[in-house]
Amino acid sequence: MKYTSLKGIQDILPPDIYIWQTIELKARELFGVYGFKEIRLPIIEYSDIFIRSIGETTDIVEKEMYAFADKSGRSITMRPEGTAPAVRCYVEHHLYNLPPPQKFFYSGPMFRYERPQRGRFRQFYQIGVEAFGISQPSIDAEIIVMLNNFLERIGLKGLNFELNCIGCEKCRPDYRDALMNFFKHKLLYFCPDCQRRYVSNPLRILDCKVEKCIELRRGSPVVTGYLCNECRSHFNELISILKALKIPYILTPDLVRGLDYYTKTAFEVTSEYLGAQKAVAAGGRYDRLVEDFGGPPTHAIGFAVGMERVVTLLKEVQSRKYPSPTLFIATIGREAELEGLRIAEDIRARGFWVEPNYGGVSLRSQLRKADRIGAEFAFIIGSDELRSGKIKWKELKNGKQGEVEIDNATKVLSNNIESPDP
Ligand code: HAM
Repeated sequence: MKYTSLKGIQDILPPDIYIWQTIELKARELFGVYGFKEIRLPIIEYSDIFIRSIGETTDIVEKEMYAFADKSGRSITMRPEGTAPAVRCYVEHHLYNLPPPQKFFYSGPMFRYERPQRGRFRQFYQIGVEAFGISQPSIDAEIIVMLNNFLERIGLKGLNFELNCIGCEKCRPDYRDALMNFFKHKLLYFCPDCQRRYVSNPLRILDCKVEKCIELRRGSPVVTGYLCNECRSHFNELISILKALKIPYILTPDLVRGLDYYTKTAFEVTSEYLGAQKAVAAGGRYDRLVEDFGGPPTHAIGFAVGMERVVTLLKEVQSRKYPSPTLFIATIGREAELEGLRIAEDIRARGFWVEPNYGGVSLRSQLRKADRIGAEFAFIIGSDELRSGKIKWKELKNGKQGEVEIDNATKVLSNNIESPDP
């Protein structure tokens, strides 16, 4: 029997894993200086949490949830995203009693039963942030600036920051009416899903990916034409802060998000290199969700970065050097092998990556292996070396070589390269 991973679900292996680790490290460092603290959220939640927040008529809830009944018959879902679990956690632990803003970040796998294609997986990873308790647009600007800095720091430039304001519960009814008016005469030509959406949630028609629906909705009213005073002034203020901070953005009035919980600010960072799945990161405000989950009225905003898409872009724009061993210890004979292991332990304790010979192969093939794994140095220990108390060393990239007393072996490395922190 030959097993494979599930469709749309992939292993992440070296050397790619080094890119993942670098991104995660930089996120941790940067988000930390903006005051975002890590939270670890469960991978499974009660299904209701997602249905109520993301919205019953969204693609995610209608078609993409990995939901199952547990042994007691309760409906459980493998999280398709992190915002709803973060809000559940915020309310469950009464974090609204702490001084605002409360800022959190999380990372980990998300699950959506989507049709797999380039940049779209059924298990994918996000790094997300959520900030609770601030209504002012200055925090919208702060997280947009932070996302911009993060993407630049990991080496991504030339991305499009698409920005919109999608209104609130006050202005949405007017916009909904305008959309229904616009669609009513062409309804029969829309896909069956959109015909259903027309009744249940007409805004979702704007999110349909079917070619003919995209065509049919050309020229439809844009939400920014229907904003209430509060939403309009919030958006104008956000724009003026972004201008003052010289953060580039593209006003995108037809940007709607695929999740129902958003209010006011919505944004997506996109790249043309990614093809159809072009959003690298996305987010927005969700000022009603905490209350919907049983907490006090609490403003909130966040975003999530799609790790696979970021990694794809980084691999396209950067050539990189992956970590490799500092030292390979080639040994001939049992006694030399033991001495090699002792030296290896000594050098590893100083924080260097050492690969030993695991026995049984000729010196020639050991040195060939040292080259293949990209080791910087090789030590050679045989019976002559044990007798004389001196081992041979070789710097593999330039062929430089010499001899050093066994007790001073680590000096070869410290004289030639900077010591890493153990
Ligand atoms: P989202 O737009 O559904 O938003 O996902 C955010 C990012 O996750 C996308 O821009 C994309 O990079 C990545 N992503 C989504 N689906 C897939 C997939 N099937 N395969 C690969 N990558 C994918 C959210 O999830 C919101 N929770 C973001 C947020 C946080 N809003 C406020 N706070």
